[in-house]
Amino acid sequence: MLGMKVGLDLGSSAITAYVAGKGIVLCEANAISYDSYSGDVLAVGSEAMAMLSRTPETVKLVRPMQGGVISDFSVQCQIMTALLDRICQNAVFRPNLIISVPSGLTKLERRTILDAASVCGAARVSVLDAPIASALGAGVSIEEPHGVLVVDIGAGTCDIAVITMGTVAFCRSLPLAGDDFDHAICQYLRQKRSVEIGLPTAKGLKHRIGCVSPREEEFEVSVNGKDAVRQMPLQFYVTSSELCEALSPLAKSIAQAIIGVLEDVPPELFADICETGVVLCGGSAALYGLDTFLQEKLRLPVRVAPDGEHCAAKGAGYALQNMKQLEDHGFTFRLKERNIG
Ligand SMILES: Nc1ncnc2c1ncn2[C@@H]1O[C@H](COP(=O)(O)OP(=O)(O)OP(=O)(O)O)[C@@H](O)[C@H]1O
Ligand SMILES: [Mg+2]
Repeated sequence: MLGMKVGLDLGSSAITAYVAGKGIVLCEANAISYDSYSGDVLAVGSEAMAMLSRTPETVKLVRPMQGGVISDFSVQCQIMTALLDRICQNAVFRPNLIISVPSGLTKLERRTILDAASVCGAARVSVLDAPIASALGAGVSIEEPHGVLVVDIGAGTCDIAVITMGTVAFCRSLPLAGDDFDHAICQYLRQKRSVEIGLPTAKGLKHRIGCVSPREEEFEVSVNGKDAVRQMPLQFYVTSSELCEALSPLAKSIAQAIIGVLEDVPPELFADICETGVVLCGGSAALYGLDTFLQEKLRLPVRVAPDGEHCAAKGAGYALQNMKQLEDHGFTFRLKERNIG
């Protein structure tokens, strides 16, 4: 197969690309900013995202994927084209792509993504359900008749899937993930402390001292925000216990959703899952204490996949390198030429 082999993960917060033989070559925010008056593109990717909460009225920031749903396909395609150009630069042959997409996408939406990728210059392209891509990227062997429970907690969605023999046997996509954790921190501080902070600050707090199980050592960080009553600037301290209180209800909802999926699983597959446990991936799997929290609630072993944020892109790349194996499970590549005419 001529041309670069690119595994692409289309996520709510990030677009990640894995190139066979090179590893992760790009991880950029899935965002674009425009000049509101002229409509000109100002920035794509993380540069655009840095403008969040800081944009004047003349700048419009768009995140085309929210909660695992692509709300604006033309914008999504524009971002994909710009980022593919960055990856391929001066390559002579057009790239071959496998794109990891949210499992909840309809057939029409999948088709639109395939068409978009072709228009963006891909030679051959296929889509792969995010839970399968994540499982492959987490190093889970999925083609055997053995059930595996993979939970991918990203920014917009939590995909819970039972995979066996290379296919998703049971799945549920919960619109609750990292972005909601950020909102929950803002809401908690507004209600309990009467202070307002922006979402980027909340995300920073989550990464630094966030947790859903008590930390061995209490952490405290200084934050700049706004007094919600007097509407004045305010510097205050936030502790890891407060974040635990703010975030635990969301972790509980995730645990309940997993239990809901397990209730539908037949006994043989359930027995497999009890043996292999739960594999957590996606960026939010790195939230401190989430594995132990889920382990307690589910009474199943839980392991966090290394480099969880990049599992889906790596898995899509792995799929491209092992196409024969996937084709045996019914995956087909679509040639760009077939789209024309
Ligand atoms: N150490 C960390 N602690 C808590 N959350 C983290 C950590 N590192 C990353 N995250 C969160 O992971 C999320 C991004 O994960 P990921 O890249 O898997 O999402 P995505 O694939 O873009 O979204 P989705 O799969 O929901 O469409 C963000 O919400 C980010 O804040
Ligand atoms: Mg994802």
